[in-house]
Amino acid sequence: MKIKIEKKSILDIESDVIIVNLFEGVKIPGGVTGIVDKAYKGIISNYVIKQEKFDGKYGNIYTLPLPKEGKKLIIAGLGKQKEFTPEKIRDLTAKIVRSIKGTKVVSILHGAGIAGLCPKTCAQMITEGALSGIYAFDKYKSEKTKNQIKEFIIAEIDDKKYKLAKEGITIGTITGEAVNQARDLINESSQYLYPETLADYAVKNSGVKTTVYDKTQIKKMGMNAFLAVGQGSIHEPKLIHMEYKPEKKAKKKIAIIGKGITFDAGGLDLKPPASMLTMRDDMSGAAAVITTMKAISELKPDAEVHAIVAACENMPSGSAYKPGDVIISKTGRTIEIDNTDAEGRVTLADALAYAEELKPDIIIDIATLTGACMVALGSVASGIMGNNEEKIKDFIEVANKAGERFWQLPMFEEYGDSLKSDIADTKNTGGRMGGASAAGIFLSKFIKNTPWIHLDIAGTAFLEQTNSEGVRNATGVGVRSLIKYITQ
Ligand code: BES
Ligand code: MN
Ligand code: ZN
Repeated sequence: MKIKIEKKSILDIESDVIIVNLFEGVKIPGGVTGIVDKAYKGIISNYVIKQEKFDGKYGNIYTLPLPKEGKKLIIAGLGKQKEFTPEKIRDLTAKIVRSIKGTKVVSILHGAGIAGLCPKTCAQMITEGALSGIYAFDKYKSEKTKNQIKEFIIAEIDDKKYKLAKEGITIGTITGEAVNQARDLINESSQYLYPETLADYAVKNSGVKTTVYDKTQIKKMGMNAFLAVGQGSIHEPKLIHMEYKPEKKAKKKIAIIGKGITFDAGGLDLKPPASMLTMRDDMSGAAAVITTMKAISELKPDAEVHAIVAACENMPSGSAYKPGDVIISKTGRTIEIDNTDAEGRVTLADALAYAEELKPDIIIDIATLTGACMVALGSVASGIMGNNEEKIKDFIEVANKAGERFWQLPMFEEYGDSLKSDIADTKNTGGRMGGASAAGIFLSKFIKNTPWIHLDIAGTAFLEQTNSEGVRNATGVGVRSLIKYITQ
């Protein structure tokens, strides 16, 4: 699907679906909706509002067939004008797009009319929403998903708004496609997606310089913790390092790390079937940083960005790492393996150490790290922790603007008590209680003094059931926040 803008009246663009909108409680629509209402002899004011009692409540969608023209008119409820936000445009557009059967859609530039929001932002939100709404993982279905929209056109006659909206569409397309690419990667079967193929994907699609290190090279770098996790699998681990450098001198240097367990069986501490079922999603962090780099290569911010993925598979086998093993990590800090299923933090320990050597201004890791975070926050918000309060607050704010919610979890030192080991510097896990924070404390020990943010997306990366926005399976969470944080 292509999203475009045309400097024409919505009535002069050929289409089979027209989308207009209505704020809650409005009886006689103004703006472009008013123009459409008049052109169709008051069908919206007299019929949809008066007779059908369409109230314009946020998220309510009224579809009206126009048999003479052979098309449909969609009136989207924007809710109360005072409560309207750009993020609502994204979710609403996604919802509308999911319900549409046509091939050519023309839409009003929601939010840029009576609401007076920035046309660029509005267009970006529509674009991201439309791309999210059309997403389907139907690669392995003989019968493809029904949504047939080929063209989605925003109509805007005002020259200034048109120009701004055009920029918004560009950013929205880059962002929305990055989210969908992450979803594709995460949804992909682990039969085909393992460290080597993930690395190949990054080389071909990250859009930036990508170096892949194999087992021998990883060993030379002293990343024994990372290697230990992957040693039970027939697939060799790969360390993926992507880098973007701006043409001008960079204003800041950011390192992002994505947890890249291409399948988490739990290792010898094998997961029960129900927990293992969706564990191909355990590389959601990796997918997020790879597709973020692709977007960065196109948006060209003036920041130097490094993305790191320590990709491996956590499997039980004769060669697997074992509970009770002691591993010497890259930093020299030794880890007693208490549970082989707490593998993400073990790989991240070395990835964090690797990232710190690059001397970035900040390190951000994103990981489907703990079931405990999922229990705490559900699929509604992701967890956030770190060693720098100011940077955490800043990230939360930026993420909110990108329409993603993060909730800070505590890092009280006591959460680390259960990690104390008799035989090594630390255990990789202690008890089940406060598990997300304990994992955060564990990670913090592998960073010396670089500002660091840890994002736990265990509960938000993958939805087993369709949510209110109609999203199921991989969500692509984190991509929008990372892109916005890096390009701000
Ligand atoms: N990949 C899992 C965390 C996870 C759980 C992600 C549910 C997505 C959904 C992680 O590697 C894991 O297994 N964590 C264990 C840690 C425990 C053994 C301390 C957990 O959370 O149960
Ligand atoms: Mn695990
Ligand atoms: Zn895992």
